[in-house]
This record gives sequence, C-alpha cells and structure tokens, in this order.
Amino acid sequence: MLLFKTAGDVLEFSLLQQNQQKSIGFVPTMGALHDGHLALIEASKMSNDLTVCSIFVNPTQFNNPDDFKHYPITIEKDIKALEAAGADMLFYPSVAEIYPAGWQKKHYDLGYLETILEGAFRPGHFQGVCEVVERLLDIVMPANLYMGQKDFQQCMVIKRLLSITGKDQSVKLHIIPTYRETDGLAMSSRNMRLNDAHRQLAVEISKALETVKQGYGKHPGGELTAAAKKHLEQKGFGVDYVEIASAEELLPVTGTKEKAVVLAAASLGSVRLIDNLLLN
Ligand code: PAF
Repeated sequence: MLLFKTAGDVLEFSLLQQNQQKSIGFVPTMGALHDGHLALIEASKMSNDLTVCSIFVNPTQFNNPDDFKHYPITIEKDIKALEAAGADMLFYPSVAEIYPAGWQKKHYDLGYLETILEGAFRPGHFQGVCEVVERLLDIVMPANLYMGQKDFQQCMVIKRLLSITGKDQSVKLHIIPTYRETDGLAMSSRNMRLNDAHRQLAVEISKALETVKQGYGKHPGGELTAAAKKHLEQKGFGVDYVEIASAEELLPVTGTKEKAVVLAAASLGSVRLIDNLLLN
C-alpha cells in the first residue's frame, strides 16, 4: 500500500489513474479503524480499480474541544488493517496540508439539515465535515465515495454537498449498512473510549432503537421515542434525542407507508454515541 502525506503527491497519483481510465473508490476516515471501516474498503474494492483511504482527524468538525483532544489515534494498527484489507493507498495528511496558510473558509448552504438532530446538538459540525470532504474529494478525485449508514445525517449532508458543488456529476455516494458488535452496539471509533461498565451499557442504545422498530406502526411514534428516551435516561445516559424521521429527507413522517428511520444520540460519561435503524 502506498502512503502519501502531501496533497501534491496524492493529486499526482490521482491524475495518473484518471489518465489511465482507472476508477478510484474513496473511503474518508478519521482513523481508529474498525470492521465498519473495513467493510467500506471491501465495498470499494469490489467496484473500483483502486481503493484510497484517508485518515485525518479534522479539527474543524469538532464542536467540542474535549472530544477532539480525546479522539482515539491508532495509526500503526490502522496501517496494518488497511494493508490486510487490500487498500491501494492511504492519504495521511497533516492539518497544514489540508488547510494551508491562507485557506479560505466557505459557507455551505445545508438548509434545515444543519439545524436538526446532529446539526442542532453540534453547531458548526457539518460545515467542518463539508469543508474537509470537499477538500479531500478535490485531491483524491474519486469516482465513488463510501460512507457508513451509522452517520445517517452525515450521509445526507454529503449528498447535499455533492449536489451544491456539482460534484454529483463525477462522484457517486454509496451508503454501506452499519456494522455492529455481536451484542448489537454500532461500531464506532468512539467505542474505544468507553470504560468496561459503559461498554456493557452502550448496547442499550441499539436495544432501544430495536424496541421502537418493533412498535412502529402499532403505537404512535412519539410514544415510542419518548419511552426509548426515558429507558436510556433511567439506565444513566444523557440523551440528546431519540427521533423518528423520514428516511429520504429526515423530515417528519407523514404516514407509516413512508420510509422512516429512528435516530438516537446519547452520552455515557464524556463519550457521545449515535445510532439509527430503518423502520420499514
Ligand atoms: O465520518 C467521519 O469519519 C468523518 O466525519 C469524515 C467523513 C471522515 C470527515 O472528516
């Protein structure tokens, strides 16, 4: 596997592949890789000539400085995992490489996506995500982009980013289902920060979502989400939200025939976790 640290080297590599009509599949990550990330690599490998992964803990998307400070970094292990998974290239840039001196911040018009759910609880987060993803796409120039369904709202934001920047003409977004631990906990790099007791408790999030799913269509959605929230709070979680929304747009659902998703964000100590389940 090639390892590049500069945007210039990656750009040269990408242009060469483009000239040779080779398709690039791209998996952007912040490292601390787990099987969910490796499933994205696998999906990319199945449909592209080359698979590129980036590892960059993007400072501009952290609304909570403590979360940034404690974000797990396991680069040596990550490199081995990417090699074993058959990635062709890793882009592992510094902050100065992504945001060089004189870097001009843009504002992305994300509409209501920025004021609901994660947008409401993490002000500025999605602007930072768009900033780094646009920059990475300009450098890597992939034909296909792979992201995990666990970050459901992020996937919608990226769809919007591709559309407002016109990149939807050259890049196709593929959303890969959430990978779960054997007890049902959604895989996340932040799980590494849970202590043993919190790790055991963390599974309650997916259980609560599953209970909402079982009741969906039989009981009012508001009652199901209120019960799930109460259950998590009683277990000791700080709950930001448990909400049902339309799976296409994350807007209020108009009937049980509409495709819907239940989404939750809850914290154990200083570790904030998110998860979601499609309901129908
Ligand atoms: O989902 C993530 O890991 C990050 O938000 C991403 C897409 C790599 C941008 O930093």
